[in-house]
Amino acid sequence: MTDTIEDRLAAWLRADELDARFELAALPDDFAADAEERDVRPSRPAPLRVSTKTPRSVRASAMRTPAGRARVLHTFCHHELQAAELFAWAVLRFPRTELAFRRGLLQLLRDELRHARLYRAEIERLGARFGDHPVRDWFWDRVPARPDPISFVAFLGIGLEGGNLEHARRYAARFREAGDERAARVQDVVAREEEAHVRFAATWFRRWTGGVDFDAWRARLPDPLSPSILRGTPLDRASRRRAGLDDAFLDALEEWPCASPRS
Ligand SMILES: [Fe+2]
Ligand SMILES: [Fe+2]
Repeated sequence: MTDTIEDRLAAWLRADELDARFELAALPDDFAADAEERDVRPSRPAPLRVSTKTPRSVRASAMRTPAGRARVLHTFCHHELQAAELFAWAVLRFPRTELAFRRGLLQLLRDELRHARLYRAEIERLGARFGDHPVRDWFWDRVPARPDPISFVAFLGIGLEGGNLEHARRYAARFREAGDERAARVQDVVAREEEAHVRFAATWFRRWTGGVDFDAWRARLPDPLSPSILRGTPLDRASRRRAGLDDAFLDALEEWPCASPRS
């Protein structure tokens, strides 16, 4: 049997140990020449429990206790894992895309796993474990319904990762206010590195559609999802500009008042 990137990613998504989800061994050099489209969903090994309930929002006072901060980081850690998994999913789901695009997805996947490990280390420093709380598969419940690579980069990259440019900075400030400089620094790293992820998405969206037009982007989002939940407040225009979004796009986004659950 040939050893392909695709088979390794599928096996990784189906791993039956949670620790295995945090690591991805070196992959073979090449993608399969004639890979079929596959829709591979991740396993959720114990102790991870998936909940469909909306968690209560975190009270400001929760940031004052190690357990409260660990709980916030637990949510962020699962966001990173879902992002990593979804980049693997996209390699398998869109095998006809350009090689450079799929190679880029693998790079992003590794960044997300590193972010997940940074968060896991902070959770453990605070005396908790990843898996202590139920998780929501909010990204997984929505992203795989995207029918094509353009919609995939629109929603996950420009939308969800774009929103994280504001959220990560906002939470860096909240961790600092709480006196937790280490957790704040992890947010700084994530905020900085996510710019490159949004830029990756914007670059491919531009290449495939001829620009990064706000209405064209909005038309690719899951209906009835509003742009309001894909931004924080205030909009971090400098960061988003560095990620390749122009002022016309940012002006249009700013007209949608922030309604993100993370703000
Ligand atoms: Fe990340
Ligand atoms: Fe990312």
